[in-house]
Amino acid sequence: MIREMRAAIFDLDGVIVDTAKYHYLAWKRLANEYGFDFTEADNERLKGVSRVQSLEILLEIGGLTFDNAAKAQMAARKNEWYIDYIHHMDASEIFPGVIEYLQRIRVRGIKTALGSASRNAPLILERLGVSALFDVIVDGNQVTKAKPDPEVFLRAADELGIPPASCIVFEDAEAGIEAAHRAGMGTVGIGNSYILKEADIVLPGLFELIVISVC
Ligand code: BG6
Ligand code: MG
Repeated sequence: MIREMRAAIFDLDGVIVDTAKYHYLAWKRLANEYGFDFTEADNERLKGVSRVQSLEILLEIGGLTFDNAAKAQMAARKNEWYIDYIHHMDASEIFPGVIEYLQRIRVRGIKTALGSASRNAPLILERLGVSALFDVIVDGNQVTKAKPDPEVFLRAADELGIPPASCIVFEDAEAGIEAAHRAGMGTVGIGNSYILKEADIVLPGLFELIVISVC
């Protein structure tokens, strides 16, 4: 299906910036404290899903169960470690091509939105100084259902005033690609084409789109 892109909706973690590595380090530290290992392959399952669901997956990998109060404490500790990493971030960590691509499509009249599961998105955007590149920002603080539910993307399209069928989602997570398709949107997978095999197309990063569009 060929679509006219009237809006582009970007995931944050793993598309705009490599926060996925900080999520991984913080979850791994938690796993190690509880005596089990947590690999980068395991981490793929956490990409795009909420903090609470990420902890559930982590505990399933470790074969551990805890009550809700203990789980809330664990998630809070992981988030403190994660935020320590975020506080050291700056614009130099934005992936190549991101700012140029966003500027380029905005000049052409294409609307832009952030569609992230992260409740830390406002802090990350502030550290990177890129908030002004998005017409609309929807993050984990405004949605109740995590990806692969389409809520975050449908809300972004609604706030932009663009029909879902005219939106393209840029995502690095399987759960995010599924969410976008369930929203009726086109998808560009960012990252590994084996992992993102359900995406309409897969690119290593937004930089490649800049290169393609000048050829
Ligand atoms: C997503 C990440 O963007 O945000 C997930 O891909 C993460 O790995 C989720 O669990 C929630 O993030 P946060 O910052 O609210 O813990
Ligand atoms: Mg992501």
